[in-house]
Amino acid sequence: MKTLIIHYLPSAENSRTRRLLQAFRANIQGVVRELDLLENQPQFTTPAVKNALFKRSYTGQALNESEQVLVAQNDFFVSELRAADVVVFVYPMHNYGLPAIVKAFFDAVIIKDETFAFEDFTYRGLLTGRRALALITSGGIYEGPEGFSDMDCCFKLHKILCNFVGFDESDVISVQGTDMLPPDQLESRFAEAERAIEDYCAALAPATLVAT
Ligand SMILES: Cc1cc2nc3c(=O)[nH]c(=O)nc-3n(C[C@H](O)[C@H](O)[C@H](O)COP(=O)(O)O)c2cc1C
Repeated sequence: MKTLIIHYLPSAENSRTRRLLQAFRANIQGVVRELDLLENQPQFTTPAVKNALFKRSYTGQALNESEQVLVAQNDFFVSELRAADVVVFVYPMHNYGLPAIVKAFFDAVIIKDETFAFEDFTYRGLLTGRRALALITSGGIYEGPEGFSDMDCCFKLHKILCNFVGFDESDVISVQGTDMLPPDQLESRFAEAERAIEDYCAALAPATLVAT
């Protein structure tokens, strides 16, 4: 089993989200690759990039050398996704949504005939046979009766994007309220998330034994 961990942790050593990443690293088995979005910053979809991607996907034309260079990073990211059985996204919520760099990653890989198909006026995700997991922390709380669920464009959008590209399953393990809750309540939320990560990895483990 191959796992790809894609992370954006701008708080570096002080990151609270990193605690979830460390729990995942401690429990996952099989081959693990990591993609740090701060070291591999996704390019924006500039007119030149968009034109090259559209030329290839929508007109079926081969790209010239300079166009291939333009989309090389997009192709690299897509190949990393394709090579994985499990894709894990790790990041904090920013401004009610996915941090821009994480959204830029999704923008870079959501490409027709690479991660989705459009046939008979219907979209179909192409990353089937894989599952996605997100490990997210947020300062506020967006679930439960007192959560600001109508403000959330992060957990919802994350799931929408993962479903769009066809992941068989898309799970989220979050610690919400990092900037609101007293330390003891927050600690119990982290402990609960760590147990959920342990269970998630344990459920994957039999697949590892079959595959190796
Ligand atoms: C630029 C920025 C924007 C943020 N926006 C939100 C937000 O919209 N909603 C929220 O609940 N928390 C927000 N937060 C709080 C973080 O999601 C929260 O503190 C998180 O646990 C930080 O994780 P980290 O320590 O790994 O960076 C924001 C934090 C930063 C730095």
